[in-house]
Amino acid sequence: MAAKLAGFLSKKLSVPVENTALNLMEDREKEYFFGPDELVILTVPTYADRVPNKIEPDLRRILHFDKSPAVALVSYGNRSYGTAPAELADILKSDGAKVFTAGAFVCRHVFSEFLSKARPDRYDRAEMDGWADQIVSVIHQAESSDDLPEPELGEIGEYYKPLKEDMTPAKFLKAKPKTDIDHCYFCGLCVRSCPMGSIDDDCITVSGVCIKCHACVRSCPERAKYFDDPDFLSHVKMLESICVERAENRIFI
Ligand SMILES: Cc1cc2nc3c(=O)[nH]c(=O)nc-3n(C[C@H](O)[C@H](O)[C@H](O)COP(=O)(O)O)c2cc1C
Ligand code: SF4
Ligand code: SF4
Repeated sequence: MAAKLAGFLSKKLSVPVENTALNLMEDREKEYFFGPDELVILTVPTYADRVPNKIEPDLRRILHFDKSPAVALVSYGNRSYGTAPAELADILKSDGAKVFTAGAFVCRHVFSEFLSKARPDRYDRAEMDGWADQIVSVIHQAESSDDLPEPELGEIGEYYKPLKEDMTPAKFLKAKPKTDIDHCYFCGLCVRSCPMGSIDDDCITVSGVCIKCHACVRSCPERAKYFDDPDFLSHVKMLESICVERAENRIFI
């Protein structure tokens, strides 16, 4: 998603793009420095209406800005982006970035094949292209990053508490993915995709924290990774029943 916006901006501003992934533990062991002439687009998925709480401290620790103009972009899975844009902007601002716009764009919900599966689509891309035009116009009006306006993003709110189909609390904090060993051929793709480094080299044991990101499930060519926690599955069914309408993207500028 950040790459798409960066691509639009790169063309419109005639500047090169550098993509930096922060998904893996090893990416988050380094520090990253950005100057006043670098336009930063920081993107995270929305988890429980906020920035993923296990990643947020890493972002605060490793990212450093010197008045860098910045865009806070969150993706969300058709339910709610909550206050993730405000929190992401706070992370950027607290280390010196000048956040002048933020956005929340819908993408596929990793929990389900059925939730917003075709997003982002051509309408989303057109909206993002229009946002890029607005960004260019704001940048051209500012002499330096000190002149950039600040969007109204509100306060950072509470975490969303997931519910089951019967609308009682779904408790799956400790749920971890299982492996269908009849289909696993121990290729290690899931091990290498885990942002928490939580899957052991045996490709099966999840000895570390699981944030339910589904990177292992999605990376498995054999579809051998799965969740069977009853509360988790009930929550997914609940989401599938309530998040049927097309959710809108939101641009703060
Ligand atoms: C633990 C977890 C919590 C999530 N919470 C929300 C949420 O509160 N609202 C929402 O619309 N989508 C939620 N999602 C869906 C993700 O925001 C969506 O799938 C994500 O933006 C995909 O980005 P990724 O492919 O970079 O992981 C959640 C996903 C996970 C794994
Ligand atoms: S990605 Fe799938 S097949 Fe490969 S080790 Fe993991 S579970 Fe097994
Ligand atoms: S869902 Fe899989 S990849 Fe994501 S944190 Fe849990 S074990 Fe790691």
